[in-house]
Formats: sequence, structure tokens, C-alpha cells
Amino acid sequence: MRLRFVLALLAGMLLLGEKAMSQYRFLGNLTGIDFQKDGALLRCGDDLVRLTLLAPDLARITLAPEGRWHSGPDYAIARAEWPGATFTVAENATHVMLKTTALEIRILRSPCRLAFYDAGGNLLNQDEEAFGLGWEGKEVAVFKSLLAGERFYGLGEKTGGLDRRGSEWQMWNSDIPAYSDRTDPLYQSHPFFIGMRAGRGYGIFFNNTHRSFFNMGAGNHRVYSFRAEGGALDYFFFAGNTMKDIIRRYSELVGRMPLPPKWALGYQQCRWSYFPESEVRQLARTFREKKIPADVIYLDIHHMDGYRCFTFDAQRFPDPAGLLADLRQQGFKVVTISDPGIKVDPGYAVYESGLQGDHFIKFPDGQPYIGDVWPGPSHFTNYTKPESRAWWGDLHKDFLDKGIAGFWNDMNEPAVWGREAPLLVEFDENGRKVSIKKIHNVFGHLMAQATYEGLRRLRPQERPFILTRAGFAGTQRWAASWTGDNVASFEHLEVAIRMCQSMSVSGIPFVGADVGGFAETPTTELFVRWMQVGAFTPFFRTHTHINSPDQEPWSFGEWAEEVNRKYIELRYRLLPYTYTAFHQAAVEGVPIMRPLFLEFPEEAETYQGHNHTTYLWGNDMLVAPVTRAGERIRKVYLPAGTWYDFWENKTYAGGNYIYVDAPVEKLPLFVRAGAVLPMGEVLQYVEEKPLTQIDLHVYPGAERTSVLYEDDGRSFEYADGMMSLTSFKVTTKAKNVTFSLAGRQGKYAPPARDYRIILHGQSNAPKLASLDAGKVAAADLSFEAGAGTVTVRLRDDGKAHTLRFDF
Ligand code: GLC
Repeated sequence: MRLRFVLALLAGMLLLGEKAMSQYRFLGNLTGIDFQKDGALLRCGDDLVRLTLLAPDLARITLAPEGRWHSGPDYAIARAEWPGATFTVAENATHVMLKTTALEIRILRSPCRLAFYDAGGNLLNQDEEAFGLGWEGKEVAVFKSLLAGERFYGLGEKTGGLDRRGSEWQMWNSDIPAYSDRTDPLYQSHPFFIGMRAGRGYGIFFNNTHRSFFNMGAGNHRVYSFRAEGGALDYFFFAGNTMKDIIRRYSELVGRMPLPPKWALGYQQCRWSYFPESEVRQLARTFREKKIPADVIYLDIHHMDGYRCFTFDAQRFPDPAGLLADLRQQGFKVVTISDPGIKVDPGYAVYESGLQGDHFIKFPDGQPYIGDVWPGPSHFTNYTKPESRAWWGDLHKDFLDKGIAGFWNDMNEPAVWGREAPLLVEFDENGRKVSIKKIHNVFGHLMAQATYEGLRRLRPQERPFILTRAGFAGTQRWAASWTGDNVASFEHLEVAIRMCQSMSVSGIPFVGADVGGFAETPTTELFVRWMQVGAFTPFFRTHTHINSPDQEPWSFGEWAEEVNRKYIELRYRLLPYTYTAFHQAAVEGVPIMRPLFLEFPEEAETYQGHNHTTYLWGNDMLVAPVTRAGERIRKVYLPAGTWYDFWENKTYAGGNYIYVDAPVEKLPLFVRAGAVLPMGEVLQYVEEKPLTQIDLHVYPGAERTSVLYEDDGRSFEYADGMMSLTSFKVTTKAKNVTFSLAGRQGKYAPPARDYRIILHGQSNAPKLASLDAGKVAAADLSFEAGAGTVTVRLRDDGKAHTLRFDF
């Protein structure tokens, strides 16, 4: 009897123990609060929460269960020092309130929960009252109330619709060839999202590199949550007024894309793989013969000697320096792939020096980890260790000396056959061993950082170009990204358009997808449609699988070649405009490719999923690609305002759906009234020749200001003021249009040139056109009835001018 009782008791204890282990613990009542200069420390018994106000609209929340704080490098964070914010404190029986000019945090006393309000007292976001911050063993989680009408955007490289409400996502960098529109996770992890409700929004960045999960209300209507399998409970709360403000601030925290070399905005041609040398030469020659503009040729894995990184195969590429010099003569830059797997191969210099310098990751017993990837058994670099990053960076010297212009960091999830390294593997973090569980998601990020820092050291005057597959929040500081191994299908064209926008609102502006699709073979129709979209994605590269037939702009017959040429040419003609958009992304964080709701947040229609294949390109162009086979008419939602058809003399009233003809050779493109699009001439490559003429396309109908940003396109001198900004303003009245050009600002002097000011949307020649105080000479003025344009030629003297047209 007694034994039975003891056994039952033991079983009960076990059960209880198990129950306790499998349940989250949550914060209890607020038992004390210490106010500090930059926020407050909340005490809930032994559990502590720190609220840090980094700026009036930015707070950081960190939890120390039982007083245990996590420490360690913040791999994502670019800006550690913040000015802080002055705040007021108010208390009552139920709450303590901390208030800045932009944000109010209300702390519920029992139990301790946080709610965030904007300056006007509107609720932005709140902890779910029963749960809030939680932890269970090493796992940490935050449970938030799912508010009526709330939508979520961001989370980086994710498939599916742009609105993430009702779905769950995982952050764990994964190599999934030929993924589908439902695959998750993929190559990159961006634990950042924006919540929007009734036109108001907030952002949350979960600063944790472990495997994490974002349940945005999947399977329930009460809570949404984010949780990680280990690491700190540490998140940043952004209370910007608009989604753009939130992205600006977020990109300030995790860092922005530095301006890439301008040539990286050109067309890029890749396949797995172009070899031998004669094939590469033939490819380059064909571009120039056919007069299809292009800047970059890629060498995929077959350039290497047995897939050994930083080597050339001596048969296929006997004289790389000679080849690269000849290609450079023709205006081509060559980018080589570099995989993180270093072949285990005594005698191979990179392997030997890596071993000698202790640069490879190991098992806990000290044996170097070996994983199988392209070269067979391979070691992987300990990128968390500064010395190992420096070693990796220096490996680029020989390739740079030979004339390689950029580096393509692939397979850096890291991918190994069998998918991933055992979770036993360790890295070195400030002399301490840390598990790959923490580092896996930043492996690609750190590889890109090591590459970037190496290039900066080796070529201090040149902007590096790096392309990466894996990444984490902040990787945009080092590299452009592409969306990995997609498929040649119309569905994937749509996936690419959505994914690039999702990346864009998550702080990664320089992004693109393999044009035409990587796996399988595109139809002519698909390839032509995709090339059009490619011309309007920040990173513009065609790439395909080893088993696919040719996928060059001319591979689909003469008709397709002509259309492809036209869109690649358009990409080059638009460079002055697009480069200005890149500059905006570099200094402000505002992306180049923008969902409609980012620019027109007050319009309900812009949030509709069916409008998410329509997007803005820079400030003023709207792109409405066809993403269905056989579709020849495109239904387009145009946001409020007047819109010009880019192709014909036609305007549309926005706030409406329109139907436009969209034969295969046409990408529906629109320009918003008030815009000025600066365009250059067709170039065969970005730096072919200085522009002797810039066309300023003026679209009257609304008052707007635009700018043209310029610099040398290759050095860092712009950071010291060697850049210029020219701004334009359009004012439209009943009977006249005024276009004014402000004097050029900045130290950079562009080459001597003319402006052609092309005023659109006119049915008559102006009665009078005046420039500053005088009349425009008849020889400098023309009217084209068919195009509906009035053109005035003007020497660019860098000074302010006003042009007025009276009708
Ligand atoms: C990976 C890359 C792909 C590349 C291939 C061979 O699948 O994603 O772009 O062509 O490896 O290097």
C-alpha cells in the first residue's frame, strides 16, 4: 500500500515535472522599476526586463529570466550608439507609462505586460495580456495580441502573399533547389516585420540568430508570436509614422546597402557554367555584335580546378589574366563564384593555409568538420573569428590581381549534401566556443562580410560588388542578393516579383531573381516577359541550370531577341533615374522596388493581394507586368492621381482599375504626374562613354520635386562630397507649366552635356516658351503632335533655370 502510494507520488511528480518543462513561463507582477537615463529596468521578482529608448521612435526590449542576461556580438546591428530620447513618466494604480515625443510604452503592473501607443494615444501593438514575454528552457518567445484588421509585411525572403497574417514562417537558412511558392524556409533569414492597422504601423526586429519561428496568427485569431530555440529575448520596436519611416529607421539599425559600382546596375549574364575560355569570348563577342547591352559575365563552378575555390582550371582557362584584360577592353566585368567549402586536399594552398592558421570550424572534440559539397569532402571557415575573416578576405588578392571584378558567394547557408552540418559543430566567438545553432543563420552574412572587408582592404578605391545567396538582417551592408534556385514557370515569375518586394521592405534593396528561371526551360513567352521584369528589378541577371539549353537574350529566336534588346536598352537609358533610386536606398533605406502600399498607404486597394504583382520602380514609375501565360490584357490598379502611359501619349485617372493592352512585347509602364524622369542614351555598357545628353522627361499635372544623383560610379569619393544633386520641380496651372531646375549641388562635375527637356501630354505647341527672362529660340524648340511632346534644348551649365510654357 505504502509502496503503491510512493510510486503514485513519484509518477505524479514526474508528470508534473514534465508538465512544468513543457510549458512557457511568463512574467509575473511588476515588483519594482528603476528609471535610468535611457529607459527603465523592470523587476518582476527575479526576472528582469530592460526597456531602452534609443530614439523617440525606437525602443529595445530585453529579458533576463532569473536575472540572466545574454551577451555576445550582435551580428545584425550596424549602429550601436544611439542618441537616446527624453521621456516622461506617469504612474497610476494599474500602469506605469513612459512617453517620448513619438511613442508611449504602457506597462501593466499585474501581470507585467507591455503595450505600445503612438504620440496620439493610438494603440499600435500590445503583449497578449495573459502571456507576453515567455521562456521555456532555452526557448524564448513573445506573444502579442492579434488585433482586428492587422496585417503583417516583411520577414524577408519568403514565398506566398506579401501579407503574412494567418501564416507561420521559420528562420533557418536552407538550400532548397527548385523551391515552390509554399517552400519555407529558404536561403535568408530576416526576423523583421511591419504590422499595419488602420493606416498606422510599427516594426519589430527580433534580434536573435537562432532558429526562430514567426506565427502571425496561423491557426488562431487571438495571438501572434515570435520565438527562438535559444539566445536572447531581445527585440526592437519601431514606431515610425509611416511604413517608409519604419524602414528608414530599421535600415539605420541594421545598416544600408552602400552604393554599388554603377556597372552592377547593368545587365548581367550567367549560366552554370560558361567554359572554356573560347565560349566566354564568344559570348562577349555576341553581345557586342548583336548590340545587346551587357556589363557582367559570370564564371560558375566550372572555372575552378576541381571545384577548389580561388583556382582556375588550367585547361579551360589557361590565361585568366589575358582573357579578363580582353573582356575588360570590350567593357565586360567578370564575376566568379566562390563557395565556402574548401576541398580537403593536402597540397592545395587554401586548404593548407586554412589548416595552419586554424581557420576551419570543428566538432567539440577538436576535429575539423568535414562536409561534402561540390569539391567532395570540405572544410568551412570560422567566419565569426576576425582572424579567419581576414584570412578569407586576403584569399581574393590573386583573383583581383588577375582582373576579377566581383564575387558571387554561393552555397553559404551553408549547404552541404544531406542539407546541413550537424548541430554539434562549433565556431569561435571572442575566444569562446559557440554552437552552429547560433551561427548557422549568420554564416552567409559573415562570409559576405569577410569578402567585403577583404575587397575594401585590397582595393580601397573601388566599390566592391558581391552577390550572396544566404543572408541575415544587415547583409545588405556587404552584398546584393538573389532569390536562389527558382524555376522557369509563370508561377515563379510572380513569386520573384513578390519575393523581391518582401526583401525590399525588409531592408534589402539590391535584389533580383534568375531571369527566365534557373531550373527547367522557359517558353519564349515566359523568357520575354521575365526579361521585361528583370529590367525593372534592382539586380538584373539571367541565369540557368547546367542541364538547361542556352538562355541568352538571343536564344529564343529573332523576334524575342529584338524585344529583349529593347528592354535591356531601356534599362540602360533609365540609368540616371535608377541610379538616383539606388542612391536613395543607400542614404535613406527606402527601397528601389516598392509595393504600392509603401507609397500609397492610405489606399485600401493597394493592400489587396491581387495588386502585389504591380509595384513602383523608384519614386515615380509604376510597373504592371503580365505574369500569366497567354494573358494579353492587363488589369492594373493605378493609385490616386494622374498617370501617364510610358509608351503612348495617354493619361489615366488613378484611384481606379484600368485595362491595358499587353501583347508579349509590352511591359505596361506608367509614370506619375509631376515626375521628371532623367534618361540617358543607349549604352553597350554602363561606362561606355560619358553622356553628352540627358533627356529630362517632364510629366505635368501635379506639383512634385525630383532629383538626379550623380557621381563617378566607382569610388568612395562620393562620401567626401564628390557627388552632385540636381533637383527639378514641375508646377502645372490651367494655362501654363513651369519646370524649374535648381543649381547643381555638390562637388562632382558631370561631363559637358545638353539637357533635352521633353514636356509630355500636350496637344498643342506652346504659344510662348520662356527660359528665365528670355524667350526660347525657335531653333531650340520643337513640338511633336503624335507623341504629344514639346522639346526644348538647354546647355547644362549647372545653374538654376526656369522654363515656362504658356498654352
Ligand atoms: C547553386 C546556385 C546556382 C549555381 C549552382 C552551381 O545551385 O544557387 O546559382 O549555378 O549552385 O554553382
